[in-house]
Amino acid sequence: MGGCKIKKSTGKLVTVLSLTFLLTFLLLYYFETSDFKLIALFIIIISAGAFLVLLTIHYTTSQQDKLMNTVASILYDKAIALEEEQKQRKIASGTASEGKSSSFIPVDKPDIDFSNVGGLGRVKEEIRKAIIYPFEHPKLYSLYGKRIGEGILLYGPPGCGKTFIARATAGEANASFINLKVTDVLSKWVGQSEKNINEAFQVASKNKPSILFFDEIDSLGSKRGEMSQDHSNRLVNALLTELDGFEGPKEKVLILAATNEPWHVDSALKRPGRFSKLLFIPPPDLKARLEIFKLLAGKKPISHLVDLKMIAKKTAGYSCADLEQIVEEAADIPLKEAIRGGKSRPIRESDFLMVLKRRPSSIQPWFRHGKQQLVLRNCQSEFRELWKLVKKIN
Ligand SMILES: Nc1ncnc2c1ncn2[C@@H]1O[C@H](COP(=O)(O)OP(=O)(O)OP(=O)(O)O)[C@@H](O)[C@H]1O
Ligand SMILES: [Mg+2]
Repeated sequence: MGGCKIKKSTGKLVTVLSLTFLLTFLLLYYFETSDFKLIALFIIIISAGAFLVLLTIHYTTSQQDKLMNTVASILYDKAIALEEEQKQRKIASGTASEGKSSSFIPVDKPDIDFSNVGGLGRVKEEIRKAIIYPFEHPKLYSLYGKRIGEGILLYGPPGCGKTFIARATAGEANASFINLKVTDVLSKWVGQSEKNINEAFQVASKNKPSILFFDEIDSLGSKRGEMSQDHSNRLVNALLTELDGFEGPKEKVLILAATNEPWHVDSALKRPGRFSKLLFIPPPDLKARLEIFKLLAGKKPISHLVDLKMIAKKTAGYSCADLEQIVEEAADIPLKEAIRGGKSRPIRESDFLMVLKRRPSSIQPWFRHGKQQLVLRNCQSEFRELWKLVKKIN
């Protein structure tokens, strides 16, 4: 920017100086008095000096600009390359170090369990049967010849608690939680994504008992625009190989996955022994909404006169994330008033009602899209619970 300014003003000055030269020579030609010649000579010397100085500045500035740009672009390229290299190194060292993990494959010990999850009673019971009990009593399960270790695929609209209940499952089973965003596993380097998938299983094994959670699993097969069909197939196969060769319950590692686009999940991943159990995570029911509001009320100064049950009734069809947002926005109203100079006051029922007027549920478009997909792919029976909810939508 600075370089540009100097260049423009230099151009103008060079023009003015050239005109001065021309004018001086013309004057010399017409008036050949010795006095005037002396003055003309003086002007020529001053102008020529100034001209040379400006020319030097102009030249070095544009050269400096070019040099700076080249250096900056080399440094930028180098930084990007270093970042990628570091990421790949971290992945490798995460599995190499005993029991520890890199930041790429984070291992967490959740401090929440099923008691923190509002509602979802049936989902909790299904997870208990499929994951927690086999985890706690593997010998009994094998004694009675029960098939265990099936992965569970959680699906449903955004912000309704898929990740939350997966973390709570780990807390409930007193296990480590490995939250693997599938999009983070994907690498443009040939073979690296497959390696990352393999390493995730190794990290899970080293941190047993553990729950390995594949979030956004649909992106393995669905991002066909960004990935070639061949690449996408190889990744699904890499995951299948790991799942098939993995003796989860014996290893004390159990597998969960989640998606908002279950119709995009490769059907090979949903066969028996893999993610064969599909569990729909619906928007919170009245009881769950009330529990969530009560939970949030404990963290904010909400007036005891607020009828939370009435607010919960008014928020049918909202996601858990929507409810959190409503409480945040209701708190903003007395906060703004207090900043403007008024006294601080608790959050009132009228604040909630004002927010509700302008904030509809964010997940209705997801249900409309879901219905279209189920009809288009003719998979209403596979996603029975979702179909029950959406079949009446126009
Ligand atoms: N049953 C619940 N009880 C209390 N809070 C919940 C419950 N479910 C979700 N929440 C809260 O709602 C928010 C959104 O939940 P979460 O991130 O698990 O949704 P998600 O289904 O994984 O969304 P996405 O599809 O966008 O990943 C979280 O902050 C979580 O704390
Ligand atoms: Mg999530």
